Amino acid sequence: MVPGETFTAIDIGSSKIKTIIGTFTEDKKLRVLGVGVAASGGVRKGNILDMDEFKKNVDASLLEAEKMTGEETRSVYLCVSGTSIDSVVGTGIVAVPHGEVSEEDVSRALDMSQNGVDLTNREVLKVIPESFALDNEAGIKNPVGMAAKKLEVRAHIFSVGENVLWNIKKGIADVGVDIYDVYPNVISAPEAVLTRRQKELGVVVVDIGASTTDVAVYEEGTLIFATVIPMGGEHVTSDVAIGARVSIDLAEKLKIEYGDLAFAKEEKAKDEDIQLSKLSKTETATVSKKYLSEIVRARYGEIFYFINAELKKIGKDGMLPEGAVITGGGAKMRGVVELAKEIFRLPAAVGIPEDSDLISGTSIGDPVYAGVIGTLLLSQRYGSHRHRLRLSFSVGGFWNSLKNLFSKLVP
Ligand SMILES: Nc1ncnc2c1ncn2[C@@H]1O[C@H](COP(=O)(O)OP(=O)(O)OP(=O)(O)O)[C@@H](O)[C@H]1O
Ligand SMILES: [Mg+2]
Repeated sequence: MVPGETFTAIDIGSSKIKTIIGTFTEDKKLRVLGVGVAASGGVRKGNILDMDEFKKNVDASLLEAEKMTGEETRSVYLCVSGTSIDSVVGTGIVAVPHGEVSEEDVSRALDMSQNGVDLTNREVLKVIPESFALDNEAGIKNPVGMAAKKLEVRAHIFSVGENVLWNIKKGIADVGVDIYDVYPNVISAPEAVLTRRQKELGVVVVDIGASTTDVAVYEEGTLIFATVIPMGGEHVTSDVAIGARVSIDLAEKLKIEYGDLAFAKEEKAKDEDIQLSKLSKTETATVSKKYLSEIVRARYGEIFYFINAELKKIGKDGMLPEGAVITGGGAKMRGVVELAKEIFRLPAAVGIPEDSDLISGTSIGDPVYAGVIGTLLLSQRYGSHRHRLRLSFSVGGFWNSLKNLFSKLVP
């Protein structure tokens, strides 16, 4: 890394497009220099539905961050989310020709792990090894340099719909920047909110976005499970819109201003009528705060039960000592920690990215920045900027040839 070199990451959220420009200090701490946020009107569930709107929003977000740094961005890292992101487990076995495992052997084993996985019309974003086995010795974290005849890997393969990714790349190229690399939010967000110790002891990260909730479980320092649940904050909002018979925009305001997961349960709490005229000039009705909070709690409860069922499937429900770390915009709901504790039967906390240095003047100490900050942190660790990807949409299949170039993240 060149001292003072700046890096840019953009999170293509369904609710907001977030841009962070930062640099890394000698001790590898991120210093945020610029922050940009724009509404995301052209993206739904991670897919672009309106290309012009998407480009306008990306441009606005990037420009806002650039204004703070006074520098023009040429290349970016992308953080992507949505229902088209998939994570499956694959295993690969290779012979070790020289009796000592080389990086090349590890790379071949990771390639092999994708063999049995159906990747029709999908593009692999990242392949993350969970553990290796040498001959018959299992549970090895980094096998390079060890003696063995046979190397086996269990890996998590993250992929995205080919068309979804192509459209995102096309939009970003039209905005006038190159792409260094693309990370799925489900593995980026945890990087911004977890300590190494939490990953060692066992923890689940829950990123509640607008359209999806990303879940990642870590134990003994590595990722052991990841999934994307097709429900998020916008489902809460639409439940409020239907239940309170108000528009989506007003429901969003109502949810954010008055929603309270704990209030719905407090039997002694005195209910109050919320005057809708405070939030909208055209409304005169009132809504009970208790009723509103019950609606919000029902959907959050459903999301959390769903996650708990996933934890149960892998035998980790109630079993992760560092508990649940909730992040993403949906983590800002009042009472979210208490509800998480109750349903997961685990300790819980909101995960907020840390601001090491507040030069930008805009705080990144907000759970909505977990994905974009985590993407910058991952990019620093894996140094994929050394090989910038140049976009050339005139050459068909260009991306396919580069498909797996930076995809294998070995610890
Ligand atoms: N104070 C708040 N209380 C409750 N919910 C909130 C609050 N602020 C934002 N949200 C919700 O957070 C969601 C947006 O979060 P976020 O910015 O993390 O989503 P996104 O990254 O754009 O979406 P996705 O990850 O699904 O693509 C919205 O549904 C919004 O209603
Ligand atoms: Mg998100």
